[in-house]
Amino acid sequence: MKYFLDSAKIDEIKYAYNTFGIDGVTTNPRHVMLSGKPFLTVLGELAEWAESENIVGWEKFPISAEIDPHIERADEMIAAAKKISALSPNFVIKIPCTEDGIAAARALEKEGIRTNLTLVFSAAQAIIAAKNNSLFVSPFIGWKEDNGEDCAQYIADITEIYRNYGWLGKTQIICAAVRTPKQIVDCAVAGADIVTAGLAVFQNSFRHPYTRQGMDIFREAWDNTAV
Ligand code: E4P
Repeated sequence: MKYFLDSAKIDEIKYAYNTFGIDGVTTNPRHVMLSGKPFLTVLGELAEWAESENIVGWEKFPISAEIDPHIERADEMIAAAKKISALSPNFVIKIPCTEDGIAAARALEKEGIRTNLTLVFSAAQAIIAAKNNSLFVSPFIGWKEDNGEDCAQYIADITEIYRNYGWLGKTQIICAAVRTPKQIVDCAVAGADIVTAGLAVFQNSFRHPYTRQGMDIFREAWDNTAV
């Protein structure tokens, strides 16, 4: 399962890439706002960094960038997506999973512009994303679980459906808004392709109190042993 960093902060992205090898990045308007920088500046920094790391192209390192969420009409979505796509071959265009969004993604994919159908909250939405060949589909986990739903079955259903119809891997499942190590494991058990989460979520998932406890035990033993 691939790990994408859900962030628009270039320092965090560089850190995560260098320390634990993230496979891609997802951004959204909220992440860009939290970076404190203008949208186009963030995109420019990400494109430049991908070049400096020799990971140019969405096949090597996909970076999802979202169109202006005020746009409702498919033709306007397509125009906005084309502008972002022209900035770097790493950019995959995030489009909301509305009827117009599906039409826009379908048209963009036909032209070779890769898309990420986002704000997906049901298996039925995930089906239509795959039927229209989006590169990625982003079912949101955290937002649903914050509202009391258990998403393990939800992700398992999507992967099973994709397996049934040969869509696994063709439209890659990004479990989005992942907030906890348990959610990461649920997504992996279900066979999702990717999880995207913030830096702190990944860092929490690497920590275990027994690991620290084990280090204390071994340190004590080391200190009582001749080297
Ligand atoms: C996914 O691609 C989204 O950017 C993301 O997971 C949304 O989560 P957030 O609640 O952290 O913004």
